Amino acid sequence: MQQDINARKIGVLTSGGDVPGLNAALHAIVLTAMKRGVEIIGVDEGYEGLIDGKFNVLDFTRVQHIVDRGGTILRTSRSKRFMQTEGRKRAFEQLKKAEIEGLIIIGGNGSLQGAEIFAREFDYPVMAIPKTIDNDVFGTGFAIGFDTATNTIVEAVDRLRDTADSTSRLFIVEVMGRTSGYLALTCGIAVAADAIVIPEIKPDIERLLDLAEHKLNIGTRSMIILITENSIPEGGMGLKKIVDAKFPEFDSRVTILGHIQRGGSPSAFDRTLASLLANRATEEFIMGLRGVMAGYINGSVQFMPLSELAGKINPLNDNLVQLAGELSILV
Ligand code: F6P
Repeated sequence: MQQDINARKIGVLTSGGDVPGLNAALHAIVLTAMKRGVEIIGVDEGYEGLIDGKFNVLDFTRVQHIVDRGGTILRTSRSKRFMQTEGRKRAFEQLKKAEIEGLIIIGGNGSLQGAEIFAREFDYPVMAIPKTIDNDVFGTGFAIGFDTATNTIVEAVDRLRDTADSTSRLFIVEVMGRTSGYLALTCGIAVAADAIVIPEIKPDIERLLDLAEHKLNIGTRSMIILITENSIPEGGMGLKKIVDAKFPEFDSRVTILGHIQRGGSPSAFDRTLASLLANRATEEFIMGLRGVMAGYINGSVQFMPLSELAGKINPLNDNLVQLAGELSILV
């Protein structure tokens, strides 16, 4: 893993879905590199831009005063071409041509898997930093963007509770996460949801309906159910059909929060996490560490080989699962 790459020119790209906190990471990368006399080259549009050689110097003027901005100033993509050997070969040739000696990749599971393959195929130095609102990257307790997304969801659900209480309605709120229930689990606890449905646990629909009935009997005015997309066929809309069949008198509504969860100014935690991971990753990369991801574990930065992350998913936090069980909201 440790090799003296002695790099004086390093590339950086953001890949996959954007998250709040990416700009804070870019800011820290540039500042850390500058201090060590290393030039940072920004790759526009993720792996797509890498294949097409879209390189621009990323200097202090481009990263100043961006830590509060959502999205990514480098823009991003989900590249199908990079999944093919031909695309990766072109990307390698572009890097060689531009004399870029190493690449920092800020991405989620798919992007990091691509990074591992690329590094192995061309024996090319890469360093990875995890980001995803889904929080499903193995090797880090928190990925950049997750915390801000939870705050966005909590704010939205608090608003929904106002209207739900006023109209005695049942609201089903569908959140992102792909196949990870982290967002629904964390936010469900934070908003005192009446039920949480996540992909990791096969939902007990009968129990969910009993729970709803019980709540009605004890005088609950309104109900909020949080569901992760992909938990059941048709997600929130699918759940509405089930709930409506049992309680036709209940005026249910579905809110799909969608990409709102990905935007906005990053939380203080995400800005700090992004800055910390980016700083340590850049520092170690310049020193020669390669083929690893900088993760945040128990309050400190730890590096894990990309080969050890392959095919693994960050498991749900046991304490949160247990807590949701105690509160009788995980169905
Ligand atoms: O992985 C992040 C994520 O926001 C998932 O939660 C969601 O399923 C997916 O990306 C949406 O992807 P896209 O922006 O390509 O529609």
